[in-house]
Order: sequence, then C-alpha cells, then structure tokens
Amino acid sequence: MKSFPSTYGDIYSGEAGEGLRKAIEVLSPSKIIAIADSHTAGLCLPLLENFIHISHVIVIPPGDQYKTIESCQKIWTEMLKSEADRSCLVLNIGGGMICDLGGYAASCFKRGVRFGHIPTSLLAMTDASIGGKTGINHEGYKNLIGRFEIPSLTWIDTNFLRTLPTQELSDGMAEVVKHAIIGSPELWNWLSNADDLSDMDWDHIISLSVPVKQRIVEQDPFEKGLRKTLNFGHTIGHALESYFLPGTQPLSHGRAITLGMMAESRIAEQMGILKTEEFNVIIPLIMRLLRPSEVTLPALDALQHWLQGDKKKVKGIVGYSLPDRIGSCTWDIKVEEKYMAESLNWLSIHLKASS
Ligand SMILES: NC(=O)c1ccc[n+]([C@@H]2O[C@H](COP(=O)([O-])OP(=O)(O)OC[C@H]3O[C@@H](n4cnc5c(N)ncnc54)[C@H](O)[C@@H]3O)[C@@H](O)[C@H]2O)c1
Repeated sequence: MKSFPSTYGDIYSGEAGEGLRKAIEVLSPSKIIAIADSHTAGLCLPLLENFIHISHVIVIPPGDQYKTIESCQKIWTEMLKSEADRSCLVLNIGGGMICDLGGYAASCFKRGVRFGHIPTSLLAMTDASIGGKTGINHEGYKNLIGRFEIPSLTWIDTNFLRTLPTQELSDGMAEVVKHAIIGSPELWNWLSNADDLSDMDWDHIISLSVPVKQRIVEQDPFEKGLRKTLNFGHTIGHALESYFLPGTQPLSHGRAITLGMMAESRIAEQMGILKTEEFNVIIPLIMRLLRPSEVTLPALDALQHWLQGDKKKVKGIVGYSLPDRIGSCTWDIKVEEKYMAESLNWLSIHLKASS
C-alpha cells in the first residue's frame, strides 16, 4: 500500500482489502452508503463487499447525462430512507461521473456528510478523484453547479482497471500524458519507454501521476494560477468535443483532449514558447500512446462559438495553458487567431499523413 498525504485529501493506492477496511475504521462511520453506476455496481462493488459492510447501495445509470440534480434527488431520498445520519460515510465507487455526483450530493446532505472516493476508471484515479472538485451538469453546461469539498479518503485499486473498456482506458491515459507534459519529466521519461496500453504497470503510473495533480492543487486549490496548467489541451479539446457532440460521430473526451494537446503544443511551438526539439518529441509520444485517428477537423470559424463560450474566459479573453518545456507549463497566454487557425490546419495534415 502506498499513501499520498495531502491537505486536500489523503490518497492511498493498493489492493482495496484489509487496508481499505482499516482506513474506513479510523473514520468510524455510523453506516456506509455506497453510490455506484450500474456498471461499477456489478463489476467493482462485489470486490469490496468482503471487506467493508455497506448498509445501502444507490445505483445511478451510467453516463455523464446522469450527473444531474435529478440523480442528486434520488441519492438524497434514498439516504433519507436508509436513515443516514450526519456521521455516515458516502463511498463513491465509479468513474469521474460518480465521484463528482456522489461527492456533491454528500456535501449537501444534512449540510454535508463525509465521503470517500473509490475511483474505478483511469481518469478518475489520476484526475477526477483528486483535488476536491465535485459537481453536476446543468442546462447542458458541464459542472455548472459544484463545490470544492475534500474527501475523507480516496482509495485507488488498479485491479478495477481490468474491466474498464479500452476506449475509457485510452481516455484516462490522455490525462496521464498531460500530467507528464505539464509537470513531471520523470513520468515523461517512463512513458517514453512505454508502448502498449494493454501491458502497463498501472501502479507505477499512479505513483508518478497522482503527485503531479496533488502538488498543483496544494499550491493553488482554487485555480487562481498554477491549477490552470491542468487545462493544457482542454481549450481546443473542449471546443472540439462540443463541436462534434451533436453529430453522428461524437469525440470522446480523451480523444478531444488528445487533439487539443497536439494543437496547443503546436501553438506553443509556433509562438516560440516551446522549443521545436521538444515539440518534435511530444507529438510522436502522443501519437504512439494515444493513437488519435484521422478526423475531419473544422476550420477555426466553426470552432469560434465554442472557444468563445469557454468557461475559463476572463474579461473576454480565453487564456491558454501552454507547455514551455517537458514538465512545465505556462498559463493565461493570449493566443492570436492566426496561431489557432494554423494549429488546426497543421493537425489535419499531420493526422492525414500518419493514418
Ligand atoms: N472533479 C474533477 O476534478 C474532474 C476532473 C476530470 C474529470 N471529471 C469528470 O469526470 C467524468 C469523466 O470520468 P470518467 O471518464 O471516469 O467517466 P465515467 O464515470 O462516466 O466512466 C466512464 C464509463 O466507464 C465505466 N466504468 C468505470 N469504471 C469501470 C470499471 N472498472 N469497469 C468497467 N466499467 C467501468 C462507467 O460505468 C462508464 O460507463 C466527467 O463527468 C468529468 O466532468 C472531474
């Protein structure tokens, strides 16, 4: 068992057996209420039930469309029925959707009860369960309603990844690669020698990736500066994700972020922020590990609506987070349209040439 202590929530990683039982025992909850989606309730929950006594399981349908106030209402009603008091513990067993939803619901019930995360997707293990952001979607806006709330514990058991679909694994890997580029030359070096997602040392990846986000959150919990570096790849990535959403072939979040990281690395290189030598190693690693397939990208004009609607816009300006070398990232960079347009054009040509 490894531990990653932090003011913003202690994280443990290892098999979720006796160690998890003891970590929960220390919290001495009156009862444990588990929240899972229907996939993780069937595939992950049974692996825990020999070690912890769960009084009540609340199951939500899978998918981000259920990260809503209606799902919160269901959770609150079921918690009420199961007579959850203020010293209960809510355990969120699932991907980022369940961690965000369950954390938010717990933080409102009776003005806040304790919750813990047992992340079961790679994205939740390396990203969503770290840093205290909880929330739900509203009126089509992602994470519009939410709170910063610190979990009482987070337990990462990479055995859960065995049942995670490959596309979900690849989506999570995009965030791992992002952590390497923005904050960890050591993780970068390790990934440089890695190849196949089906044969990764996930515990080692967790041990290098988790501290990147933890360190950033410790220094800037409320996203005033450094935490914005976690948005690398997400400005263009989110715009692409939204652009493709209504169509017949929506881009998964991870795939959109992969394309976003490529385009934004190109912008950094063209603006002279990132050396060409470093750009020339970043792109092949992304291509090799994340394998983005060819996609017909829109021109900048068609993306503008989404870029301008970016949540991160301050005083009318979308600030980009751009790498300045491997393991380091700048933020609040104003990017001229010519660089954005050029990066999309370059990306289209690059993907076509590599397919
Ligand atoms: N709070 C944060 O800081 C933060 C950061 C990044 C993302 N997020 C949020 O995280 C969510 C995305 O997370 P996600 O990619 O984990 O999506 P998700 O929770 O929807 O999970 C993706 C799919 O994988 C399934 N799944 C999860 N674990 C499984 C397992 N072990 N075996 C089989 N299937 C499994 C789920 O049932 C679901 O169908 C979004 O809502 C996003 O907004 C939050």
